[in-house]
Amino acid sequence: MAKKLLIANWKSHKTALEASDFFNVLKDSQVNFEDKEVVICPSFTTLSTCFNEINTLHLPVSLGAQTISSHDEGAFTGEISARQIKEFATYVIIGHSERRMYQNESDKEISLKIKKAKEVGLIVILCIQDENSFIDETADIVAYEPPSAIGTGNAAEPLRVQGVFKKLIDKTSARLLYGGSITSSDIQSYSSVKGLEGFLVGGASLNPHEFLALISLW
Ligand code: PGA
Repeated sequence: MAKKLLIANWKSHKTALEASDFFNVLKDSQVNFEDKEVVICPSFTTLSTCFNEINTLHLPVSLGAQTISSHDEGAFTGEISARQIKEFATYVIIGHSERRMYQNESDKEISLKIKKAKEVGLIVILCIQDENSFIDETADIVAYEPPSAIGTGNAAEPLRVQGVFKKLIDKTSARLLYGGSITSSDIQSYSSVKGLEGFLVGGASLNPHEFLALISLW
């Protein structure tokens, strides 16, 4: 049986120093998360610091990037290639609705990014907005994240998530996550959603104590 998943999307938060502090709180906690698959997706600028902290502190935590370039390595100023990410991370989030909204990422570009990620062996977490969103068949994990729930405090009701998952199960064999305003006060209400293997967590993953609460409650 696969481990339950908790994936933190830190977005454009945390300096290297703040990231180190986060991992030191995890290290000092009594929460045992060996039986969970815990993934932190920090900014590119702190990936190497996070990598070193996790190794030095022997934390059972993996790393992911929040996006990758749709190009191979080469003359693409400002882009970070899949191969560069693979040096530090195991996972990559692709197609987050904030990237669709602010960077105009299209389904075509998302497909290209997935291809690049798979070529180097990264585990792909594809974000989708609803049951009709484009789902690349090679995505390993699909995160259902209704835009109305992201960062708004209005998490989608477990029943709604269940309804969407019923349709997704016919479309993909990927592991399914929910994301959008999850906190420690509501995470347990999703435990009966069939097919749900975990969460993609934004705001509530920034505070290490709240994130530890999420890990212990799920
Ligand atoms: P949120 O973000 O938990 O802050 O709503 C989730 C996400 O965007 O992945």
